Amino acid sequence: MRAVRLAELGGPDRLHVADVRAVAPGPGQIAVRIARAAFNRRDVYITQGLYPAISLPCTLGSDGAGTVASLGDGVAGPPPGTPVVIDPQLGWVEGGPPVSDRSSILGMPVDGTFAQYCVVPAANVHRTPTGLTDDEAAAIPLAGLTAYRATVTRGRVSKDDVVLVTGIGGGVQTFVLLFAKHVGARVVVTSGSDEKLARASALGADVAINYATSPAWYKDVRAATGGGPTLVVDSVGGETLARCLEIARPGARVVVYGGTTGDATIRPYAIFWKSLDVLGTSMGSPSDFAAMLALFEEGLRPAIDRVFGFHDAPAAARRLLDGKQFGKVILAVD
Ligand SMILES: NC(=O)c1ccc[n+]([C@@H]2O[C@H](COP(=O)([O-])OP(=O)(O)OC[C@H]3O[C@@H](n4cnc5c(N)ncnc54)[C@H](OP(=O)(O)O)[C@@H]3O)[C@@H](O)[C@H]2O)c1
Repeated sequence: MRAVRLAELGGPDRLHVADVRAVAPGPGQIAVRIARAAFNRRDVYITQGLYPAISLPCTLGSDGAGTVASLGDGVAGPPPGTPVVIDPQLGWVEGGPPVSDRSSILGMPVDGTFAQYCVVPAANVHRTPTGLTDDEAAAIPLAGLTAYRATVTRGRVSKDDVVLVTGIGGGVQTFVLLFAKHVGARVVVTSGSDEKLARASALGADVAINYATSPAWYKDVRAATGGGPTLVVDSVGGETLARCLEIARPGARVVVYGGTTGDATIRPYAIFWKSLDVLGTSMGSPSDFAAMLALFEEGLRPAIDRVFGFHDAPAAARRLLDGKQFGKVILAVD
């Protein structure tokens, strides 16, 4: 089969299509014929050597959708040909700790979805929600799961919340907007691009603020929210996170799942005086994934940036590296 492989570090241009041996599903596993995959920031970090415990060569890709190709011993279904989408969180036992020696993410060290076939545990294979295209289904897994746990499970979003979503161009953040609007919350987004802010407004964002042209963006957020957000979902980190703590309303939840711009110097005063709940989160549990996917049966649709051909994986990864995307960057697998 053909796969997009990474054999050595050096950035997106090291991604290349190669012929590799297709692996048959073992007991308890399913082989999925991948139709579409999608990129995450993680894939780019791995090409750059900026991810822990990199093991090469490897097939990258955490997001994948397609059809069931074959079933391993002891797997009852779904039958071959069924449209499915893959949960990329491996080894998270429901009710157990979120991180353990057994947990990992599909797409390094385990070969991932940038391939014609991908073999995963049967429990990670879910029927594609009704009416979703392959592009839409492939856009959902890692980002949708992370956003769902951040916004719903950890953030406990409700219609009464005023939610701040920083850096709306991020793949995960577009899902946070989607889920927060779905429950009827008021949502404020920031971005360094007016074009991305316009797209976010079209998806339902109530207030859109450009952090690049408005360096005191956090003051604009405080003014627009009448006293600060009650829920913040952040993956920007750095000074952005420090400002979020500063402007959050007393009693607010501040959920953190990433740190794109690096470490933050924070004021403990902002946390203890306002009794903030600062909540960390990563990916999500099997039940988070199932509950998240069910929302797409209710008519939600993910934001898709662009679809790249299989041989254009380096260009697709560069689009994330350059921060050009709004929503998910898709890889057509052929
Ligand atoms: N813990 C987990 O389970 C998990 C899962 C997924 C991702 N992550 C992490 O979360 C982060 C985002 O992931 P992603 O895949 O959504 O990445 P992404 O698509 O590359 O998005 C990154 C976004 O960050 C925003 N940004 C960058 N610099 C900014 C600044 N100075 N101020 C405000 N916003 C800024 C940009 O938004 P604009 O373009 O709108 O300005 C950019 O689009 C990454 O660090 C990733 O490693 C963690």
